[in-house]
Amino acid sequence: MAPLLSSTGLLLTALTLSASCQAAPSATPVAAAVTAIPSSKTSAGAPLFHSETLQLTDGVLSKLQLNNTRLFAFGNNASDLSLGKDSCKVFPGDAAWPSSTTWSLFDRLLDGALIKTVPLAASCYSDWPQYDSDKCKVVSDNWTVSYLHAADPASIMWPLYEGRTCLPTDDSSETCTVGGYSSYAVNVSTVAQIQLAINFARNAGLRLVVKNTGHDFNGKSTGAGALGIWTHHLKDMEYYEDYQGPGYRGPVVKMGAGVQASEIYTLAKKLGFTAVGGEGKTVGVAGGYVLGGGHSPMSSIYGLAVDQVVAMEVVLANGRFVTVTEESDADLFWALRGGGGGTYGIVTSVISRVHPKVGVTVSTFNFATGGNVTVDKFWAGVRAYLDRFPDNADAGTYAYFWVMSTGANSFSFLMNPYFAVNHTVAQFNTLMKPWFDELDRLGIPYTPKTTYYDNYYDAWDAGFPLETVASTVMATGSRLFPRANWEDASLLNQTFDALKTTITAGHPLLAFNMKADLLEGSPENSANPAFRNTLMHAITSTSWSANATNTQIRDELETFANDVLGVWRKTCPEAGAYMSEANILEPDFQQAFYGSNYDRLYKLKQRYDPTGLFYTPTGVGSEDWTVKSQDNLPDQNGRLCRV
Ligand SMILES: Cc1cc2nc3c(=O)[nH]c(=O)nc-3n(C[C@H](O)[C@H](O)[C@H](O)COP(=O)(O)OP(=O)(O)OC[C@H]3O[C@@H](n4cnc5c(N)ncnc54)[C@H](O)[C@@H]3O)c2cc1C
Ligand SMILES: *[C@@H]1O[C@H](CO)[C@@H](O)[C@H](O)[C@H]1NC(C)=O
Ligand SMILES: *[C@@H]1O[C@H](CO)[C@@H](O)[C@H](O)[C@H]1NC(C)=O
Ligand SMILES: *[C@@H]1O[C@H](CO)[C@@H](O)[C@H](O)[C@H]1NC(C)=O
Ligand SMILES: *[C@@H]1O[C@H](CO)[C@@H](O)[C@H](O)[C@H]1NC(C)=O
Ligand SMILES: *[C@@H]1O[C@H](CO)[C@@H](O)[C@H](O)[C@H]1NC(C)=O
Ligand SMILES: *[C@@H]1O[C@H](CO)[C@@H](O)[C@H](O)[C@H]1NC(C)=O
Ligand SMILES: *[C@@H]1O[C@H](CO)[C@@H](O)[C@H](O)[C@H]1NC(C)=O
Ligand SMILES: *[C@@H]1O[C@H](CO)[C@@H](O)[C@H](O)[C@H]1NC(C)=O
Repeated sequence: MAPLLSSTGLLLTALTLSASCQAAPSATPVAAAVTAIPSSKTSAGAPLFHSETLQLTDGVLSKLQLNNTRLFAFGNNASDLSLGKDSCKVFPGDAAWPSSTTWSLFDRLLDGALIKTVPLAASCYSDWPQYDSDKCKVVSDNWTVSYLHAADPASIMWPLYEGRTCLPTDDSSETCTVGGYSSYAVNVSTVAQIQLAINFARNAGLRLVVKNTGHDFNGKSTGAGALGIWTHHLKDMEYYEDYQGPGYRGPVVKMGAGVQASEIYTLAKKLGFTAVGGEGKTVGVAGGYVLGGGHSPMSSIYGLAVDQVVAMEVVLANGRFVTVTEESDADLFWALRGGGGGTYGIVTSVISRVHPKVGVTVSTFNFATGGNVTVDKFWAGVRAYLDRFPDNADAGTYAYFWVMSTGANSFSFLMNPYFAVNHTVAQFNTLMKPWFDELDRLGIPYTPKTTYYDNYYDAWDAGFPLETVASTVMATGSRLFPRANWEDASLLNQTFDALKTTITAGHPLLAFNMKADLLEGSPENSANPAFRNTLMHAITSTSWSANATNTQIRDELETFANDVLGVWRKTCPEAGAYMSEANILEPDFQQAFYGSNYDRLYKLKQRYDPTGLFYTPTGVGSEDWTVKSQDNLPDQNGRLCRV
């Protein structure tokens, strides 16, 4: 170890790194607070990734000769969070906000991984040093492309929830502020960096957010004045064909928290297995997606993504790094598997069951009013489809379809795509026959483009479009419609009428016909029980004009949450909605997103995060906090305070 005089005048003890801890010191001493733990098989049944062997320990902390080691110390389970004034998390500008000296000390301990937030679109604003019209054009042209936001340390895909404070523009009268984006992000590549960031945020009373891709429909990965932990670069993946771990033996894949859907599917194609991940190409399959449940084109056969998880490596709110399995800690394992991201800890990797290679038939088609297709015939065609939902889901298939109003008395239906796992084209046509016969009888033209692929990747890649993100004039809501709605003829009529009412009023329906029974052999988890008997995850949205005032937007959001979605809720009041593709103002979100699991999840939240380090809007325990939003909208642009 070589002493190093830091630019701040503090004497740091440089810990020289090497993988084994005993090899010759590397040429350049590193001031980062980290030590390498030998990577043997943990109780997870698979070795740690290299990034996970680099840890913060009591030993490392005791060697840091700082006068404020306390700032980076591990937590005890007492309430050790020092909240600032009015029981709020410390905010930029507060006396208690860390000094620039402290931020640079933190950055040194992180080995330079700290990034001060510059809003993605700052290049469009002449009063920012980053002003650059060429860069602004790239950001503007690609604003709706999910890759752009996933690759940024702070940006999210739903600008409404950061406060729309720095949008791409060519209007020089607009302003750009950091708004509801986190103030700093740590670009993590080691467990030690996550531990340091957690300890620092907890000890300094800062708000903490975890950002992976920024997909979450309610902006759960952003927060004004927060320290962000950006997991995007934790990309390791390892396949174990004959894994033997707690409670399960068979093929698994271990994925780092930053792995995205297209990446795991690419590996799966190469090695000949099938993984249960999302349909969206850039969704983070080992982050918020899996922690909130995760529906998949494979769900009607294998259940939710979270049902596949057999072990996790996690950094807890107290900063400790632990392996979590059914055997090591059944309570935490249960809560992490479905209780939502950013709530109980930061997952650095998950080990998930995978399945044999399987063939898939993909079909896309559409029909619409016009010609001989009257509005009544159109709806009869849609109804004939709805009637088939139990059979189609029970056959193991998954379908993503859109129904929307396209003008006065005109409607369109788009199958985009039908994903018939383990079906040949002939088997798919047999499954569709009752519906297609009815469309024929009604005289509705439709021309399926149907192709068989011998593996999941090719089918998924051909079938699912890259979604458009980052609209600033739209919000979503959803419902998990239960099988019971199909088991009673008048309730099915009511369900159909509810959908028709919504669509006719101009709100599009983007829905999945699927089921998600708990995978056989998977221990019970905390995924929303409403998933277990659903036949349709239905999403709709509302929008407003670009010049709408905040008051108008607020009114529209409330009408949407209560009245528009209320029509759906009324058909199945006991059911729920999927937290990761949800409505931010969902009434009684505890019941809707967590169902009967809520009380236990809340108790476990108090046990594992007694100081409330982790907060996400509509997360477990979020009712104990409020964001003092600056524009009276339900966004993250304001101080986070205890209620
Ligand atoms: C275009 C698009 C397509 C989608 N497709 C699907 C789909 O097919 N199936 C489906 O089920 N959902 C889908 N979703 C919803 C998706 O599951 C959620 O947006 C989910 O929150 C994404 O997780 P993430 O980690 O990628 O995103 P983020 O927004 O970065 O994170 C979401 C939440 O998880 C937390 N989090 C992230 N990583 C970690 C971690 N390592 N440890 C602890 N907490 C963490 C964050 O703090 C945040 O609270 C889609 C969303 C979009 C926008
Ligand atoms: C460390 O202590 C010295 C002397 O008490 C003080 O001047 C300095 O500001 C402290 N540094 C930090 C980062 O708190
Ligand atoms: C506090 O933590 C210790 C050590 O992790 C644990 O044994 C104890 O049960 C915890 N106490 C509470 C009240 O959770
Ligand atoms: C981003 O924008 C540029 C033009 O400004 C374009 O050439 C490029 O293809 C875009 N990238 C994506 C991913 O859309
Ligand atoms: C984040 O860290 C990774 C290495 O883990 C590096 O490749 C990447 O360039 C960094 N990104 C930023 C924005 O600093
Ligand atoms: C409408 O129906 C008539 C009678 O069945 C048929 O001749 C005609 O081709 C149909 N038109 C279209 C556009 O399908
Ligand atoms: C696919 O279908 C066959 C019967 O046609 C069945 O034996 C097999 O188990 C199915 N595979 C999967 C993955 O469901
Ligand atoms: C359902 O609606 C259809 C069509 O409007 C109607 O004929 C049928 O009687 C209704 N069934 C019940 C049980 O209400
Ligand atoms: C928004 O612009 C439209 C015209 O494009 C106008 O009719 C409407 O009144 C404007 N609304 C507000 C709130 O300014």
